[in-house]
Amino acid sequence: MTQYVGELNPPCRLMLTPGPSSIDPRVYRALAAPLVGHLDPWFKTCMDETQVLLRQIFQTENRLTMPISASGSGGIEASVLNTLEEGDEAIVAVNGVFSDRMFEIASRVTTKVIKVEAPYGLPVDVEDVRRAGKGKKIKMIGLAHGETSSGVVTKLDAYRKVADELGALLVVDTVASLAAVPLNVDRERVDICFSGSQKAISAPPGMSPITVSPAAEEVFRERKTKVQSWYFDLTTAMNYWGKERLYHHTPPISLIYALREAMRIVVEEGLEARWERHRVNQDALIAGIEAMGMGLLVKNPADRLPTVTAVMIPNGVDDVKVRNQLLDEFNIEIAGGFGPVKGKIWRVGLMGHCSQKPNVLLFLSALEKVLGERGFRTPAGAGVAAAIQSYSHAETAAAVSR
Ligand SMILES: Cc1ncc(COP(=O)(O)O)c(C=O)c1O
Repeated sequence: MTQYVGELNPPCRLMLTPGPSSIDPRVYRALAAPLVGHLDPWFKTCMDETQVLLRQIFQTENRLTMPISASGSGGIEASVLNTLEEGDEAIVAVNGVFSDRMFEIASRVTTKVIKVEAPYGLPVDVEDVRRAGKGKKIKMIGLAHGETSSGVVTKLDAYRKVADELGALLVVDTVASLAAVPLNVDRERVDICFSGSQKAISAPPGMSPITVSPAAEEVFRERKTKVQSWYFDLTTAMNYWGKERLYHHTPPISLIYALREAMRIVVEEGLEARWERHRVNQDALIAGIEAMGMGLLVKNPADRLPTVTAVMIPNGVDDVKVRNQLLDEFNIEIAGGFGPVKGKIWRVGLMGHCSQKPNVLLFLSALEKVLGERGFRTPAGAGVAAAIQSYSHAETAAAVSR
């Protein structure tokens, strides 16, 4: 049976989701650059440059710094599988779906993983982690810096302190925070830090940047058993990303081009300017949402992840119908909630290339129209006006500091 399949022609969406984010035209151009072999001398230079950029974005001198050929979940697998062996004790701080994924992966390696939990909308209290680890030989403490399922950011310094007290490695998921939220891997002494290409870095999905401290490398070297996954064994993968450049697997070359270009854009903007841009745009979004009479899941402003805002869905409003109308009428995609907050929150992403003033204003006005038609009336223009007001404060502050 023959069936005609037409030319690829995807819609041009504005992805205000918790990832992937829309990408800069420069990144599309990099994707279309001619393919070379993964052992081509030219590509080896391209790999060096990719690692240089990764170190700048993670803010680290770590030798073992590379993009894993996998989505963000591959970063979790690699971190956990290289660190833990059967019988090891570990703690994972769980406050949503993605930190729970780290717990699930760790539990497949060793049965002695302690889950320390907080409800959606809150970071895990570090005192609970300290109590859970007391008197135990904890090898690793894992957490999500930005928990995308609830829009919560967790401060790392207190976790580092507890990891030091327990003699544990600190493993941090920065899939939703790297290049958007202040982070300095070396200064904050994160042992294993991984991310995803598709969020605030704004490259296509499919790569998971990772960096590993010398202390964590030492733990890898002292393993008694082989890493259970051949593909994610970081020591052998480093034969390719290290000095030798020996074949390990064929990496997604075009994705590496795209990641390299997206990171060049990050570095051109500057990390601090980028963190500030994410903060200012989220502030404006929140001002607009609140002026429209809606609340947020994360009550404490200091706990709000700048890349993902969890908006409480007003009573009587249909989650899916609103999201579908935003997509059909405005080409805007936002996300719903998972697990206990399914049907209760919308997750609005302002990440990387998408974290822009015009997107915030467009989204608020589109949402006003859609909500009005779905029975939730808001004062005309209130959301946009509040966001503009919020920007006026930010712009004054920026002008003063310049
Ligand atoms: C914090 C966090 N960790 C891990 C992941 C998993 O990444 P991926 O879906 O790219 O495998 C995500 C994805 O949204 C995430 O937000």
